[in-house]
Amino acid sequence: MKRIAVLTSGGDAPGMNAAIRAVTRCGIAKGWEVFGVHQGYAGLIAGDFRALTMRGVSGILQQGGTVLGSARSQEFKTEDGRLKALWELRQIDIEAVVIIGGNGSQTGAYALSQMSFPVVGIASTIDNDLVGSDITIGVDTALNIALEAIDRLKTTASSHQRAFLLEVMGRNCGYLALAAGVAGGAEAIVIPEIEIEPEEVVQSFRRAYEKGKSHAFGVVAEGARYNAEKLVAYFSEHQARIGFELRTTTLGHVQRGGVPTAYDRLLASRLGAGAVATLARGETGVLVGMIKGDITTTPLEQVIGKQKPIDPELFDLAKVLDRQ
Ligand code: F6P
Repeated sequence: MKRIAVLTSGGDAPGMNAAIRAVTRCGIAKGWEVFGVHQGYAGLIAGDFRALTMRGVSGILQQGGTVLGSARSQEFKTEDGRLKALWELRQIDIEAVVIIGGNGSQTGAYALSQMSFPVVGIASTIDNDLVGSDITIGVDTALNIALEAIDRLKTTASSHQRAFLLEVMGRNCGYLALAAGVAGGAEAIVIPEIEIEPEEVVQSFRRAYEKGKSHAFGVVAEGARYNAEKLVAYFSEHQARIGFELRTTTLGHVQRGGVPTAYDRLLASRLGAGAVATLARGETGVLVGMIKGDITTTPLEQVIGKQKPIDPELFDLAKVLDRQ
């Protein structure tokens, strides 16, 4: 292996830069040349490659986002787009690509590997929905940002005896909402995987007030059937009967920004090194992730088009803790 490229794709995630740095430095340490592809698959199609150096990736470890840029390329979803990308890769003799990203990005990686081009994926998305890694790059940072928001919202909620709802990202996956709800002590957690009716949220909040709490707090996943918007509509429609108002905050992209936590930097560094080690032993067409603390590889065909289920025990725990 002499020349590899690395790209970041899809939604950025705090820690991606640490992964780019690890791929670059571990690759160069093996005597390889490493190229960064700008703007994900769009850059691959455009042939936007730039050589990366040991020193060139200095000072990025602690930065959020991705220094390579990212994109959601529609063109790469077409065969034409993928053929153009292959042509560009061959133009400068790239022998393998490391693709840092989530579900959509790994679907693209699988498509490339199906065209007999060697690829290795690195599990990176704040959604934590990827099969093949217990936790993905960016999750810990996003979770901590959600927790900070919860802690702040709770102080103002208490002052006003208010019911509050925080909506977090996660696409169709409820992991962030569930984990933030448990770690933040929420009275209600609303996630896509376990459907509940809006009235159950009302009842959870009512119980909180009856127990003498000065506020009631819930976390809702953006992908839930009853997201923040729908729950607010329900509360205002039944305002007279419910007897208390609901305020909501949507965290949105704030969750994806900012400095990665120590955990994400470590995870990303290990996964980046793992990707290089995987290529060095000649293994391709796989996702590098972490399972039970070990750096592992899972064939991309077992990863794509699937969503990692949430841990039902964590959901049960949330219910027990909410009863206290
Ligand atoms: O997949 C990561 C994610 O942040 C999701 O949680 C969210 O639904 C989506 O990306 C937002 O995408 P965009 O940044 O393109 O608006």
